[in-house]
Amino acid sequence: MNSSDFPVALVTGANGGIGKVICKELLSSGYRVILSFRKSERAVAFYNSLLQEYGAERIGCLEMDLSSVTSITEAVCVLMEKEQRLDVLVNNAGMLGYNMQVSAEGYEMHNMVNCLGPMLFTRLVKPLMHRGSRVVTTVSLALYYGSIPENFPYPHARFNRFRQYACSKLALTLLCLRLAELWKEEGITVNMADPGIVDTPILKLHKWIDPVADAVFRPFTRTPEKGADTSIFLSSDLSLRGATGGLYKNKKAGTLPEKITDHPYTDKVWCFLADLYSSVN
Ligand SMILES: NC(=O)c1ccc[n+]([C@@H]2O[C@H](COP(=O)([O-])OP(=O)(O)OC[C@H]3O[C@@H](n4cnc5c(N)ncnc54)[C@H](OP(=O)(O)O)[C@@H]3O)[C@@H](O)[C@H]2O)c1
Repeated sequence: MNSSDFPVALVTGANGGIGKVICKELLSSGYRVILSFRKSERAVAFYNSLLQEYGAERIGCLEMDLSSVTSITEAVCVLMEKEQRLDVLVNNAGMLGYNMQVSAEGYEMHNMVNCLGPMLFTRLVKPLMHRGSRVVTTVSLALYYGSIPENFPYPHARFNRFRQYACSKLALTLLCLRLAELWKEEGITVNMADPGIVDTPILKLHKWIDPVADAVFRPFTRTPEKGADTSIFLSSDLSLRGATGGLYKNKKAGTLPEKITDHPYTDKVWCFLADLYSSVN
């Protein structure tokens, strides 16, 4: 078999706690998997280990920093040149920062990395997708506590990491719901996975109390395998053919409250993404 015989999946945050499991499971299910990551020793070591195990016809890599529009557009060009199709896109990368940071374009960093970056990438790689392609995006329980400020996606005067994380995941959810609606007729599905509270490096207070908190709370968190299972289900389970616009937890679709499905700021967030998309496309 050569590489074009396998369905193609691309996973962002491929070297993260949940991302690694998603990559391995999709490989076991017969996909060719493109690992997308920011270049680091850990990421390259993971890529090399899979390359050794599965061979170059099953593994690809795409360097991309979701905090940078330039990095995203460059990655899209590389991908478009190399690939003919994309069957599954898993938007898994995400961050929970500590200090206030802004992206090169001046957007609050959570809003860029967790929401605008992945959604811009998703829209730009659409030409590789086809009827039956699936977009699976990792959201979080935090979205239910989020609010979208008037000045989205720019930073608040006072930074709070949890508020910013929740805002970015809520905005991400609103964009996924809009994309699901828009791409339904074309047969490209867009669903979201809530992994639960998972034992991965993202869970950090960045305070002296971290080792104590780890010892007390980590035993009650989910394993990365359990955290990944809904994304894997959404990526590949045949029973889901055609299902779109759902937010799943434990492999089951939940019911989104009206305050999210009819969120007053959906248009505002969508228009922002649309302008960003037009500026680079
Ligand atoms: N763990 C939980 O309890 C939990 C709960 C709800 C939702 N989630 C979501 O699950 C997803 C996976 O997180 P995880 O738990 O597996 O955490 P993780 O181990 O920290 O993985 C996060 C991944 O995102 C990547 N990433 C961060 N910033 C990036 C950037 N600017 N550009 C490209 N990639 C970037 C990281 O790459 P680097 O190694 O280069 O930093 C890493 O691969 C995230 O979307 C997260 O928000 C996690």
